Amino acid sequence: MAPVRESITKGSVSPMRPVPGGIARPEYVGKKRAAAWHGGDVHSAEMLERIRISARIAAQALAEVGRHVAPGVTTDALDRVGHEFLMDHHAYPSTLGYPGAAGRPPFPKALCTSVNEVVCHGIPDDSVVQDGDIVKIDITAFTNGVHGDNCGSFIAGEGTPESRRLLEVAREATMRGVKAAQPGRQVNVIGRVIEKYAARFGYESVKNYTGHGVGPAFHTGLVIPHYDSAPFHDDIIEPGMVFTVEPMIVAGSEANHEWDDGWTVVTNDGSWVAQFEHTIFITPDGPEVLTTP
Ligand code: MF3
Ligand code: CO
Ligand code: CO
Repeated sequence: MAPVRESITKGSVSPMRPVPGGIARPEYVGKKRAAAWHGGDVHSAEMLERIRISARIAAQALAEVGRHVAPGVTTDALDRVGHEFLMDHHAYPSTLGYPGAAGRPPFPKALCTSVNEVVCHGIPDDSVVQDGDIVKIDITAFTNGVHGDNCGSFIAGEGTPESRRLLEVAREATMRGVKAAQPGRQVNVIGRVIEKYAARFGYESVKNYTGHGVGPAFHTGLVIPHYDSAPFHDDIIEPGMVFTVEPMIVAGSEANHEWDDGWTVVTNDGSWVAQFEHTIFITPDGPEVLTTP
């Protein structure tokens, strides 16, 4: 019988990597919580051009880290790749020092590494990636005062038909959600499309972590659910908006809980998870993906 992969456990986290003084920090670094954003989610052309740059750097960083996902690599080594890529592009890693919930430590790394049953917000540490693991990399770049946010899933080695299918369904669910983001509709159509598509394969879409408005704030307050939340989350999609679509698709029950580290989220039943995330811009004719390399 094929060996069964043991559950993910906490490893040891390396010291915080330095950021050169010339790279500007987001306002929340060193604070207890991020400032609330009151500027809305419809942005000027000038703001959009800034977001495009951060989104492109984030996408390039994601591709570079993804190339390093392989059996034997530690998630800390993946963090090093992402951290150094952002430094080389004069970008601040938005997750580094991002405030946690009340009484919890800030996120300590340049990206999230969420392996197998880890839903999201996994902290890079000395854990070694094993053959067949699904590794989600979520990396956000901050340049010119704005953030671009994206995530992808990578299989270390070949994986199995099941893990490859989960990953491809998550990718397709994300793109169907993106395409559903048409001006004039309520944001809850996005999650309805995602949840329905996942259900065709017996998969569930996580409800308690959502997409979000992004740009001058990492999380603007606008919530983009990945399930059918109607009649709630009835914000109208408008030209000029920028937000993320980032469904976490589970090969089992989406019920989940957070570890006592204040960050790592795992499925209750140990089911594996795949996730993709794009930052998108709404044009009068429909969505445009900004997180392309
Ligand atoms: N990038 C994640 C998102 O898609 C947020 C990570 S916050 C962190 O919204 F602190 F966990 F890194
Ligand atoms: Co993200
Ligand atoms: Co996001």
